[in-house]
Amino acid sequence: MRKPIIAGNWKMNKLAADGARFVMALRDEVPEGSKVDTVICASFIHLPFLTEAARDTPIRIGAQNMHYEKSGAFTGEVSPEMLENILVDYVILGHSERRQFFHEDDELINKKMKAAFENDLLPIVCVGESLEQRENNETNQFVRNQVKAAFEGIREGDAKKAVVAYEPIWAIGTGKTASSEDANEVCQTIRETLRELYSDAVADEVRIQYGGSVKPENIEELLAQSDIDGALVGGASMEQESFLKLLEAGA
Ligand code: G3H
Repeated sequence: MRKPIIAGNWKMNKLAADGARFVMALRDEVPEGSKVDTVICASFIHLPFLTEAARDTPIRIGAQNMHYEKSGAFTGEVSPEMLENILVDYVILGHSERRQFFHEDDELINKKMKAAFENDLLPIVCVGESLEQRENNETNQFVRNQVKAAFEGIREGDAKKAVVAYEPIWAIGTGKTASSEDANEVCQTIRETLRELYSDAVADEVRIQYGGSVKPENIEELLAQSDIDGALVGGASMEQESFLKLLEAGA
């Protein structure tokens, strides 16, 4: 049985004090032994405050990006070692907004995957098709290729710890959600790709999230699907009330 994982992605929102208050308030709501893994992914500037606020709780904190080098002359960048040092556990890699606005490609994302595991960070690696690709029936092949590229050279022992987020680009922040059956079909494709690349053990262990306009009204149906193990949530993770409803649905 895979434990559901609900991750909020605040993107470039909230000020540091608001973020810390949010996590402090969450402390009482996420008990030890919770049936769902709870992750908050925030801007770099939030992270030391959030890891402090989440200390001694099951709440886990994630970054939304990182560089792949340990250190060096990369002005403006943040290294995996820096994240690990302030007790960050997860890192979102290859979000479509990074692919689109910051020109991240599969090769770069693969380097970041390797760097994450080398520094004991757990990647939430994002894949997903554009509307045009969906309309041209290219979704499954495109997503398969993204998964293969992301996991290239990743050892089996590491691969099974990864989280994959399937986020159709056309569903992000638009209010449009993939139907739960369509989302599940792509998540099955992702799992089968991992089975071909590795083994049954990896395919059956890796948690696959759906992301794209997830909200309290649609999460239960999504989580009821065979291959959807959680959600990566933007808009609905920003308010305490809706985020708590998502966690309840996952538990
Ligand atoms: O990382 C989260 C996704 O991009 C989904 O964002 O829930 O606002 O559609 P959204």
